[in-house]
Amino acid sequence: LLRRIGRRLGRWVPESPRSYWRRRAAEFGRRSVLNLAHSEADFETVTLRQKSELYPQLRKLVAGGERRILDFGCGPGRFTADLAALIDGEAVGVDVVERYLELAPEAPTVRYQAMRPGKIPLPDEWADIVWVCLVLGGIDGRPLVRTVAEIERVLAPGGLLFLVENTSEGKGSPRWRFRREEDYRRLFPAIDLAHLYDYFDVGERISVLAGRKAVAG
Ligand SMILES: C[S@@+](CC[C@H](N)C(=O)[O-])C[C@H]1O[C@@H](n2cnc3c(N)ncnc32)[C@H](O)[C@@H]1O
Repeated sequence: LLRRIGRRLGRWVPESPRSYWRRRAAEFGRRSVLNLAHSEADFETVTLRQKSELYPQLRKLVAGGERRILDFGCGPGRFTADLAALIDGEAVGVDVVERYLELAPEAPTVRYQAMRPGKIPLPDEWADIVWVCLVLGGIDGRPLVRTVAEIERVLAPGGLLFLVENTSEGKGSPRWRFRREEDYRRLFPAIDLAHLYDYFDVGERISVLAGRKAVAG
């Protein structure tokens, strides 16, 4: 509300990440989760390529007993149903933008839930795996700290965090930060994150980091 009043009064009030993604979703639909250098016609090809880069990495780490996977910041559900199939279990996709969840494909093993920033609508230790693909780069400051705490809260002890983020050189933009692997490791002290893999998308380096949450005692 303050932001809206501020804008009406002609003052510059920074747009929240949520309203930025809402605007992007309204303007570009499902393509808005990709680098906008890609056209709508490229959506399937780019998504298939990402799947072929990422799924083999995840498969290597799945232990076999996992039944519940969280797709955090799932957007239009590009991966959610596959993730459920990959563990032969169930997946929940959560996102702060309702429009994305409307676009997401339904499947019997999948449930999508809208969330408020910094509050994942799942019980403590619900997830055997949390998959985060290109979400944290768009969050910063206190909201990022809250988001990280929530991811740790819903991940079961011994559970796997699978993180895919842009680690290109430089700072990125105010909307999309490039962070170093060490920055992500420092953000998640309770999870032993290791660097697994890199691929490149429109010349930017996308890294896969993964690790398990410590088991108390
Ligand atoms: C680049 S898109 C990636 C979407 C999806 N992971 C994929 O790869 O198709 C970033 C997503 O993060 C979501 N997002 C932004 N801030 C968020 C937050 N605080 N909590 C959860 N999701 C958020 C956006 O709505 C958007 O769907």
